[in-house]
Amino acid sequence: MQQVQAVVAKAKGAPVELVTINVPDPGPGEAVVKVQACGVCHTDLHYREGGINDDFPFLLGHEASGIVEAVGPDVTSVAPGDFVILNWRAVCGECRACGRGEPQYCFNTHNATQKMTLSGGDMDGTELSPALGIGAFAEKTLVAAGQCTKVDADARPAAVGLLGCGVMAGIGAAINTGGITRGRSIAVIGCGGVGVAAVAGAALAGASPIIAVDIDAKKLEQAKAIGATHTVDSSKVDPVEEIKRICAETYPGAEGADVVVEAVGRPETWKQAFYARDLAGTVVLVGVPTPDMKLPEIPLIDVFGRGGSLKSSWYGDCLPSRDFPMLVDLYRQGRLDLDAFVTEEIGIGDVEAAFDRMHGGDVLRSVVVL
Ligand code: APR
Ligand code: ZN
Ligand code: ZN
Repeated sequence: MQQVQAVVAKAKGAPVELVTINVPDPGPGEAVVKVQACGVCHTDLHYREGGINDDFPFLLGHEASGIVEAVGPDVTSVAPGDFVILNWRAVCGECRACGRGEPQYCFNTHNATQKMTLSGGDMDGTELSPALGIGAFAEKTLVAAGQCTKVDADARPAAVGLLGCGVMAGIGAAINTGGITRGRSIAVIGCGGVGVAAVAGAALAGASPIIAVDIDAKKLEQAKAIGATHTVDSSKVDPVEEIKRICAETYPGAEGADVVVEAVGRPETWKQAFYARDLAGTVVLVGVPTPDMKLPEIPLIDVFGRGGSLKSSWYGDCLPSRDFPMLVDLYRQGRLDLDAFVTEEIGIGDVEAAFDRMHGGDVLRSVVVL
């Protein structure tokens, strides 16, 4: 057991605190990772606001990279000294998806068995709930060994750590779930960190046109810098008509985009995605709705008559062991600009301030660097 500094949300809505926590030595199937970088994601804020569940106190942070410090006795997949990206899909090998050879759909991720706890103060010894089973706003964290994916050690930790969550979700929504390729058109509605990553994924796959849609002009600029061929300000024009018009310019007769990624997580924008899609096209929902939201009212005949598929993308349908090393290689070759997602590097004490800046619209990702 060792003591380290970490960012904890002790109670619903209260500002996060930098405190001392106890990190157990790794047991069977576990690894202790010395965290080098961890991005600040909306999901961390949702945890702090009690929007995920009530299992306070939470150890926040989950888009991280670092160096394996120690592994449990039976661990062979990673070794001390390995540079790894942490994932929240440590495939189980036993569920139905794994059994039929589709581990990218495993929902049964493994986490560490032992608990990290608060050290000192009136909550001494209280078990922590690590965000997405990771908890990486910490100098060190305890995870399941399967949550560590070894990648090229020369990569910049702050940039590649982002593949651990939002950036992978976006890239995967376009490539894995949407199946976007060269010769296909795509529109992405909502160009925050996730949507812009979908744009980057589409560019990587050679899609054209790549149409970025947002209500915020600054977001559209970012999307353009990262590979969008067209931008649509949906606070000013009807995005459905505009997407159809742009796609028909490239592919005469097209009635929309082959793939429309919805990266906002709202019924209105999902409805736009539904109608902005070409016949037999695909909608990919990667934005996360709140529990009260309902499917928008759409005549069932439109669902039938337009064909195609309506999908959702959970963690970009990624398989970390397959996708992380490949994307890190593309980053190292200069073909995937992960640096563009790092708006600022901050200290471990600056997470609360980074939450405040999320609402301003200027930040794709603040990344805690240790
Ligand atoms: N039409 C188009 N764009 C919109 C609309 C709208 N009606 N409403 C909001 N947006 C844009 C915002 O301007 C912003 O650029 O959607 C984007 C959302 O981005 P972020 O808030 O930065 O969220 P992000 O991290 O990209 O995550 C997107 O996925 O992980 C989930 O909870 C997350 O639901 C969220 C989604
Ligand atoms: Zn499984
Ligand atoms: Zn996240």
